[in-house]
Amino acid sequence: MCGIIGIVQGRGEVASFLHQALKRLEYRGYDSVGITTIADNHLHTKKDKGKVDDVHRSMNLDDIPGSIGIGHTRWATHGAPSLMNSHPHFDCKNEIAVIHNGVIDNFLQLRTDLHSRGHKFKSETDTEIIPHLIEEYMKEGMDLATALKEVTKQIGGTYAIVAISTKEPKKIVCTRNGNPLVLGREDGVSYVSSDIPAFLPRTSNMILLLDGEIATLSVDGIEIRKLSDNTLVNRETIKISWTADQAQKSGFPHFMLKEIHEQPDAIRNTLRLKPEVFENAAKIIYNARRVYLLAMGTSGHAAMASRHMFASIAGILPTFELASDFPDTVYGALSKDDCIVAITQSGETTDTITAVKYAQKFGVKVLAITNVVGSSITRLADYTVITQAGPEIGVAATKTFMVQLISLAQIALALGELAGFMDSKEIERKRQSLQEIPEIVSNVISTQEERARRLAGILYDRPSLLFLGRGVSMATAYEGALKLKEIAYNHAEGYSAGESKHGPIALIQSDYPVIFVVPNDRTRNCVIGNIMEMKARGASIISVVEEGDTDVDSLSDHTFTVPAGVEPEFSTMVYVVPLQLFSYYMATRSGYDPDKPRNLAKSVTVL
Ligand code: F6R
Repeated sequence: MCGIIGIVQGRGEVASFLHQALKRLEYRGYDSVGITTIADNHLHTKKDKGKVDDVHRSMNLDDIPGSIGIGHTRWATHGAPSLMNSHPHFDCKNEIAVIHNGVIDNFLQLRTDLHSRGHKFKSETDTEIIPHLIEEYMKEGMDLATALKEVTKQIGGTYAIVAISTKEPKKIVCTRNGNPLVLGREDGVSYVSSDIPAFLPRTSNMILLLDGEIATLSVDGIEIRKLSDNTLVNRETIKISWTADQAQKSGFPHFMLKEIHEQPDAIRNTLRLKPEVFENAAKIIYNARRVYLLAMGTSGHAAMASRHMFASIAGILPTFELASDFPDTVYGALSKDDCIVAITQSGETTDTITAVKYAQKFGVKVLAITNVVGSSITRLADYTVITQAGPEIGVAATKTFMVQLISLAQIALALGELAGFMDSKEIERKRQSLQEIPEIVSNVISTQEERARRLAGILYDRPSLLFLGRGVSMATAYEGALKLKEIAYNHAEGYSAGESKHGPIALIQSDYPVIFVVPNDRTRNCVIGNIMEMKARGASIISVVEEGDTDVDSLSDHTFTVPAGVEPEFSTMVYVVPLQLFSYYMATRSGYDPDKPRNLAKSVTVL
C-alpha cells in the first residue's frame, strides 16, 4: 500500500526514472501520484489525484529538473484521494519534502501541537506532520538525518518514510517501522523503494533496511545506522535474480495476462529448488504438536487446498485460520510445541505479520512461504521457503498462488516421507507427477483461453455468479470467485458444493450462472448430484472438467476442459487456470483494468 521511490545520482535528471519507477509501483496504490526533486536549491513538485498515466498526460512528469528526487503512488488511508492529499508533503517553508507508506496513529495529537506552534497544514493526511516535525528539529540546528531520527521518537504506528531537504540537497534520508523499504546501489547511484521492481531496470543490487534503522543515501554510497544507539550497520548487498524484463508487460496487454502465461515457468523454477528446502520445512511441521496454516485472500486459498495434500499424503490435517482473525480465535491456546505455516506472497501483509508476532509470544515455531526475498515475514520466521514466481505486478495474485501450491505440495511430499503415512513408491509417483504440472498448465492456457474469452462475452454483465466445488476443489471455487469479484466486480461467491443446498440454492433462478469445479476424484459423483439440483432450478451450468468427461459435459451449458489424470490433491493448480482466464476476460470485456482493481493494493499493510 503506497509505493515509494527515491534516487540520488551525480548528474543528469531523475524525473523520467521516477516516473517509470512509479508506473512499476502502481500496483501498490493508484489514488494519486507525486514527484519532488531538488534543483537550484529549490523543491520542484508535480503531483495530482489519479493514475500515473493520467497525471503524466496532464502535467508531463518527465519534465522536472534535478538529479535527486522522490516519488509516491498513494493508496488512501487518511483523507480522500485528491490533489491536496497527494504526496509528497512539505514543511511550512517548502524546504522539506516527505513521502510515507503506513499509518501514524498519534498524528491528531501531534498535528494539534504543531498547529499551536504556528504550523500550517494543507492536507488531511497523517503524513503531513512529518515534514513539520522535521522542520522544528532542523530549526534547532539538527541535520536531516538527526531530525528524522528525533521524529521517530514522537510518532507511533507503522511507517516507511523518505525525506529530502533543500538544506542538504545531495541526500535522501529514510527509515522504517513495519512497512517495507529496500535500498539499491550501482555505479554511484543510490536508490530507495518500497519494492525491488521499482529500481530493477537500473540495478539488481539490493540492500535491506530493517525496522529501527535509518539510511542516508548520496552519490558516495549508503550509510545505515541503528536508531537506538547510532551505530553503523554493515549490511551486505544481495544480488536479486529477478530481471527487469520480468517487470515489463512484454507485449501482453496487462500484467495479469502475462503472469497467467508465466505460470508454467514459475512452477518449473520453484520445482528446481533444492530438496532440502522442502525437507527442512517438512521437519518443522513434523515436529509440531499442532499445525496452523495462516494466510489471507488468495494465499488463504493455497492454504485451504494444501490441507488436502497434507492429509492424504502425510496423514496430518493442519488447521487453516485467516491470519486477521487468528489472535481473536485462538485466545492464547498456543504453545512452543505448535507451528505456524504463514503463507504470504508479498511477505508484508500486516494481518499475517501481526498473527505471527502474536503466536511467537507463545514460542510457536514459524515456517514462512513467500515470494519476496528480505520481506518482513522472512525476518520473523524460523525458516522460509522462497517461491520462484519472479515479480508479480498485477494486483490479482495468479502465478504466486501457483508457486505457493507447488511449494506446499513439495512440503507435503517431504512430510509424507517423514511420517511414513503413504507408501514411498506412491510418494515418488506423486513427486514425478508434479514435474508434469508445468506442461499441463501450459496446455490449459493454450486450449482454454479463447473459450474463457468467449464465455466472458456471454456472462460479463451477470450481476452474480456462484462457484462450487467439494473437497480440495472448494479452495479452487473460492479462488475463482475471488478473482472474478476483485477484478471484474461481478458479485461472486465461492462455496462448498455440498453446503450449497443448505442456503445458496435459494438464489437460483432461470439462467443464474453456477460454475462447478469437477475433477475426476472422489467428489465427482456427489458433485454431479449438486449439478442436477442446480439444473433442476434452471441454473446455467458452467463446468471445469477433465477431457473425456462426457457425463458432466452433457449436463453443462458451457465447459472448460483440462487434461485427464491430474493427481487429486494437486488438481487446484490445473483447474484454477480456466477460472483465472475467465476473470481476466470478464474484467476486460467490461472495460476494467485487471491490473489495478478499485480499492485494492498488492500488499495490504494495514490491519
Ligand atoms: C487476491 C490477492 C489478495 C492477496 C492477499 C494476501 O488476488 O492478491 O487477496 O492474496 O492480500 O496477500 P499476501 O499473499 O501478499 O499476504
